[in-house]
Amino acid sequence: MTDRDTPGTGPSVPPPDRPTASPDAVPPTRELWGSRAGFILAAVGSAVGLGNMWRFPYVTAESGGAAFVLLYILFVFGIGLPVLLAEFTLGRRTRLSPIGALRTTGGRGWSIIGYLFVAAGLLILSYYSVIAGWVTRYMLDSIISGFPGDPGAYFGQATEGPAPIIYHLAFMVLTITIVMGGVEKGIERASLIMMPTLFLVVLGLALWAFSLEGSGQGYSYYLNPSMDELFELETFAAAAGQAFFSLSLGMGAMLTFSSYLSRDENLPREGTIIALSDFGVAFLAGLVVFPIIFALGLQESVTDSTVGALFISIPGAFVEMGAIGRVVGALFFIALFVGALTSAISLLEVVTSSMIDEFRIPRRKAAVGAGGLIAVLGILPAMNIDVLGAMDAIASEVFLPMGGLALAVFVGWVLSRPKDEILRGASPTIAGLLGGWIWVLRVVAPIFLVIVLYTTIPNGIDAVRAIFQGG
Ligand code: TRP
Repeated sequence: MTDRDTPGTGPSVPPPDRPTASPDAVPPTRELWGSRAGFILAAVGSAVGLGNMWRFPYVTAESGGAAFVLLYILFVFGIGLPVLLAEFTLGRRTRLSPIGALRTTGGRGWSIIGYLFVAAGLLILSYYSVIAGWVTRYMLDSIISGFPGDPGAYFGQATEGPAPIIYHLAFMVLTITIVMGGVEKGIERASLIMMPTLFLVVLGLALWAFSLEGSGQGYSYYLNPSMDELFELETFAAAAGQAFFSLSLGMGAMLTFSSYLSRDENLPREGTIIALSDFGVAFLAGLVVFPIIFALGLQESVTDSTVGALFISIPGAFVEMGAIGRVVGALFFIALFVGALTSAISLLEVVTSSMIDEFRIPRRKAAVGAGGLIAVLGILPAMNIDVLGAMDAIASEVFLPMGGLALAVFVGWVLSRPKDEILRGASPTIAGLLGGWIWVLRVVAPIFLVIVLYTTIPNGIDAVRAIFQGG
């Protein structure tokens, strides 16, 4: 039993219909999404976040611009979408969070991967929430008083000393509160309100950026690829890491969300909507950030882009724009905050839901326990931005591609009758494509992901070493 509501109080809790799996694997009152739109917006909410508006522009800049964008598109739709469908297959079939899903379909050995997913969730949210804490502060200041004149010093204040810890903790409290509310009353309701708002704000910002004088250079940097960079292994690996991070793939977040689905959704269609929306917002965010930066002559912040660059150059640009900049700046950080919150919810939900399924802990206790642990872990990256950068690099470029590789191999080679789950609710045209899907999971994705890991594992080891040596 979960502590949500008593069974039968609403239309959203129909008795589970699970003809194929063993009945004891399912809690009798598994929560369900209230509507199809609710699921899609919650999944889009998970996908769209700091990854789109902070990480995508920052990694694009770090990787040299448009060539990266091209590779990113290939990864999102060529590898990301198939792996997303693999997560959906496992989640909806088993109606369990990752550990249980892998155990019931693959046995004890494979369930280890589920534990790694939970560990990845703890790791990612602990630094994600720190950045979200900076964003919270930026948002509040931009609404209340506007940004101060010296954005570099302001970034320092926001990221050093006690302030980042306090904002991180506050952000975690908010995230925990929503996850405690449960799937439909907490996560779904929050996403239904917040995601449309975010879309409109980012779209408005992109249109506005188009009107800036001197924005052309920004567009060409962003959209005009130079071919030699296309073939660099590092760019390739960065594109893969970004695709997995942005789509929330490789650690069971989408698996968990799809475990609250009923039987009749068209999974390929929902997956495509989610991937397109996620890409759309990232692309729009680039159309906001690059024109602003180039219009105001802040290119150097692009070339030596680091974790913090956008937190300095973007507010700097808003300050220079005067009164309009105040309004636009506030909108920008409101959108960023909303995205961060709906994503953090999904990260906490993976850990919470695993505790509910594995230990039968009531939801509220599970959310507080998991969130509390993450809040404590996050104090370290809150104190040290280099640690934060290293955690981000390792999580997204090593953990997530590894998780994606494991999922692809598992669903492609081990899971029995993998196509069955997708076939429920899918249209005949899509059914015809499923043979291709299986072979992407079996061969194409593993080859690409092994190449990615071959590049990123040594970098990850170096990053860890640098932290320990550099103090
Ligand atoms: N996709 C989110 C973003 O772009 C972050 C995120 C949420 C995530 N859940 C995840 C990343 C699971 C990896 C795995 O901001």
